[in-house]
Amino acid sequence: MPDTLRPNSLDAFWMPFTPNRAFKADPRMVVRAEGVHYYTSDGRAILDATSGLWCCAAGHGRKRIVEAIQRAAAELDYATTFNLGHPSAFEFANRLGEITPDGIDRIFFTNSGSESADTALKIALAYHRARGKPGKYRLIGRERGYHGTNFGGISVGGIVRNRMTYGPMVAGVDHLPHTLDIARNAFSRGEPEHGGAEFADALERIVALHDASTIAAVIVEPVAGSTGVIVPPKGYLKRLRELCTRHDILLIFDEVITGFGRLGAPFAAQYFDVTPDLITMAKAITNAAVPMGAVACSREIYDTILANADTPIELFHGYTTSGHPLACAAGLAALDTYRDEKLFERAAELAPYWEDAIHALRDAPHVIDIRNLGLIGGIELEPRPGAATQRALEAFRKCFDAGVLVRVTGDIIAFSPPLIVEKAQIDRIVETVRAALRQIA
Ligand SMILES: Cc1ncc(COP(=O)(O)O)c(C=O)c1O
Repeated sequence: MPDTLRPNSLDAFWMPFTPNRAFKADPRMVVRAEGVHYYTSDGRAILDATSGLWCCAAGHGRKRIVEAIQRAAAELDYATTFNLGHPSAFEFANRLGEITPDGIDRIFFTNSGSESADTALKIALAYHRARGKPGKYRLIGRERGYHGTNFGGISVGGIVRNRMTYGPMVAGVDHLPHTLDIARNAFSRGEPEHGGAEFADALERIVALHDASTIAAVIVEPVAGSTGVIVPPKGYLKRLRELCTRHDILLIFDEVITGFGRLGAPFAAQYFDVTPDLITMAKAITNAAVPMGAVACSREIYDTILANADTPIELFHGYTTSGHPLACAAGLAALDTYRDEKLFERAAELAPYWEDAIHALRDAPHVIDIRNLGLIGGIELEPRPGAATQRALEAFRKCFDAGVLVRVTGDIIAFSPPLIVEKAQIDRIVETVRAALRQIA
């Protein structure tokens, strides 16, 4: 048998967003998870300060969710939702509509955040076409935005490494400036003071350049997660909403990270009191126990597309596993868990403690900024000269060796602990990071 096909070989699995060679030379493996901990193959407990990947909001191995999946698998393993229904898909859509902002309650199911982003962009285009405005085709994203890895998402996204390899992007895309302004806003607690209206007003320049009659939608993460926790300056999202409304442009909030209680409200839309036209979600929609995503649309969008269709099928879009029975079962059980354990409220209550805890790292070595909102945190390190990202990577490894899983992106350490995290565990996360930063050059 060739080497690469040996059962224990690590070669066959091409790992996503991972330095494959380095990882496989020095792998980190987990075999089990429960509550806020992962367990390694040699039995070590690792405190999960990242909720998996911003997704296991209720912690790991939740019995209620596991049992719901088991029951669903035994009862109805699969049914398409193309021209056929099964009850849990309708029930789950209704339940999601109960926690989304008022009127944003028509739900399209996908399987991931990437698919949700591309679905939302396509729905925005379909909406304008349905109302007789097919010339509104431009999609506006933002520098440093992350909307997954499909072609729509990387086109409106603003991460050069995710785009540059893949040739021409979707046509007709432009980008707002990102809102990170360390010079003016370093070490802000919560929403930064400076730049809100100014960064949003950049949309006026884009409108002046292309004309609003060509622009379909603006897509932003309310709090950017994947590019290192960028919290919107005060007033930014409200102003963006006003400008979109004024220019008849749809506003899409990508809530793949901020949805399901991360900021202490069901969605960031409610936290900021800003209602977009579409919301993308994934990750914690099922507590990540089964892959799933969704797009919540306004009734106006749904009704317009249905009323103006010139074929029986109103939207030519969908996935084989849209509304998969196991995902819907997991999602319903996750929503029950969030509600019964009051986890969104818990996140809101813990947020001030979290803020104090991570801002205590201000005097730790290499730290040039600390950002937070809800149960999200980001610590930006000064890049090592000539070796950007190395410092954060070393911090990641040191933390893991000390039993805490953090996430790093560039030279930023990002945190999104499960909403069930205890104060003592927050203290441990912070002290582990402090010790790691002291150990690295
Ligand atoms: C804001 C945002 N959108 C989309 C995605 C993509 O989600 P997925 O990896 O499930 O495709 C992510 C993933 O982190 C995200 O943070």
